[in-house]
Amino acid sequence: MNHEALLAELTLEEKIDLCHAQDKFSVAPIPRLGIESLVTSDGPNGIREEQAADEWRGLGREEDKATYLPAETVLAATWNAELCKLQGQVLAEEALYRGKDVVLAPGINIIRTPLGGRNFEYISEDPYLTAAIAVPYILGIQENDVAACVKHYALNNQETNRGEVNIEVSRRALYEIYLKGFKAAVKDADVACVMGAYNCYRNQHCCHNQHLVNDVLKGELGFQGVFMSDWAGTKDTREALYNGLDLEMGSERGSHRNDHMADALLELVRSNPNLTPLVDDKVRRSLRLHDRLHKGSALRKKGSFNTPEHQHVAYTVAAEGIIMLKNDDLLPIKDSTAHILVTGPNADLHQSNGGGSSAIAAFYEITPLKGIQNRFPNATIEYIDSQDIIQLEISARKADWVIYCGGLNHDLGFDCENEDKANMKLPSNQDLEISTVLSSNPNTVVLMTCGSPVEMPWISQARAVLWTGYAGMEFGNALADILLGVVNPSGKLTYTLPRHLEDHPSTRYGGYSFENNIYKDDIFVGYRGYDRDHIDPLFCFGHGLHYGSVDYQALVCQQDEAGIQATFRLTNTGSQPIKETAQLYIGHPGYIADRPPRELKAFSKVLLLPGESKEVSLHIPMEELDIYDEREGCFRFYDGDYQIFVGASSRDLPLSTILNIASR
Ligand code: BGC
Repeated sequence: MNHEALLAELTLEEKIDLCHAQDKFSVAPIPRLGIESLVTSDGPNGIREEQAADEWRGLGREEDKATYLPAETVLAATWNAELCKLQGQVLAEEALYRGKDVVLAPGINIIRTPLGGRNFEYISEDPYLTAAIAVPYILGIQENDVAACVKHYALNNQETNRGEVNIEVSRRALYEIYLKGFKAAVKDADVACVMGAYNCYRNQHCCHNQHLVNDVLKGELGFQGVFMSDWAGTKDTREALYNGLDLEMGSERGSHRNDHMADALLELVRSNPNLTPLVDDKVRRSLRLHDRLHKGSALRKKGSFNTPEHQHVAYTVAAEGIIMLKNDDLLPIKDSTAHILVTGPNADLHQSNGGGSSAIAAFYEITPLKGIQNRFPNATIEYIDSQDIIQLEISARKADWVIYCGGLNHDLGFDCENEDKANMKLPSNQDLEISTVLSSNPNTVVLMTCGSPVEMPWISQARAVLWTGYAGMEFGNALADILLGVVNPSGKLTYTLPRHLEDHPSTRYGGYSFENNIYKDDIFVGYRGYDRDHIDPLFCFGHGLHYGSVDYQALVCQQDEAGIQATFRLTNTGSQPIKETAQLYIGHPGYIADRPPRELKAFSKVLLLPGESKEVSLHIPMEELDIYDEREGCFRFYDGDYQIFVGASSRDLPLSTILNIASR
């Protein structure tokens, strides 16, 4: 039966049942009409273990142990669309196998402040990169009979007081920075579901926000899918009915009959049947989703779980998502029989089971220590817990190499849902431990596992520093392959690493309060603010080194019918294959006041064999140059001289040219 015919068959009570959950993660079936239960599951880096029917309690079952994929900051650091698609595909296959219909991912909020507790689950401080990573990831999920659910719409950039904080932001920042990823998810990936955020905008909760949902998402962007609430993010029945919420999830009001969109909604519509079309629109969207997923059809794909292919994807994403921040002629480690001291709080720490809703019961997890043991079978590996500074110093002096594995973890107050970090300091005694090993042994490699920036006061002493987020079940193997030089690192930063929190635009411009957070950084989020105010970050957006180097030459740009065509040549001047992410930034004509000096508008990850030269061609559609006009309330294009820059990071741009661009 098509969904219009089904809609006509449904009673009002049944329709209302399709507008709210029956337990923590699913919506009730309607067996008499063959409508199956719709089952959702977290999350961005693997399929979450089964929870007790209506509690936040994992069942602890062996059979739920899933492929633990790298967190989104790691996936994004690959700058590799193909890998994003593969990660999406793995999620979908494991979701199908486990009987899930909707994967609650990807998280695409902008990484606005270094303190954000959920930064590790998001993609970038840059909206273009956010869109470029999210779109293939969503396609990878949705090409496999599973729905993606982008989250959290919108402006969910802080965790502390996330349920109540009101965000004040200019319209241009809203459109240019915070909504761009969502727009791409709808327009370019036809995302099936969108999840509302906990916070408020214009003093109205985002899960039922007239402007964000009705005007923008369903109006301007033409979203036809299901708009669901975050878990317990629905606060009001009338607003939910009128302001575009299609599905209430995760409410914590005892029986689900008490959900805002259960009996209270039923009463409201019973007392005023003119409201039925509003409910019909919500139900129609859910029925369309059932169709789209081929629910109830024998043709629906079956999925698979923990296959070697899935583990290989986890490995490849980790290998391309680890970033080499610094390497003063130290790495790789050529002596495979060396005495290697592995130390630091993250050396053997399992990270899969923390962070909040994205926690995974991992099938296995190769920590840095395990990976080094696996890949250096002939070395003498010494592992010490780094609490005792004297012992650390003695052991570091005796070893040929020291690998210090530090950074953050998923404890509340670090990279974890519900609370932001208090500052950018490394926890416990790490700064002292790192300084100690650095002064005891010049062959020290510092590995930082972090989902958000930390201060690194010892950086000038360190010869080699690797940076990564929570890199999944194959992390240790990928890391060890980079240490050995078997893999040439190719990850690049997707957010700026400040020297100090005070340097960051979100802090520098002020405006923060728990109740009403004013985004005074406006469009100058992340590198846009550093570049505008000439502040040097510790490591800039887009930075990441390889073994060997790449030469950039011969930039030629011209305008064509659809936008700007840029070509340039890359040459691998090193002796190993390199995967280089070339980045193109554009600065608007100088007469337009108050713009960032340059913004990312295109990139390409290119494999170059030793000595190889390749011509790279990038195309920037005209609408990428449009900017939001506050007064007119729309995007518009300005004629003039645009500066185009190409290079290896936002601060390493050897090629540039000026192109006069006119609207056509
Ligand atoms: C999180 C969502 C998550 C949901 C279900 C909420 O607390 O904000 O991202 O998908 O829980 O676990």
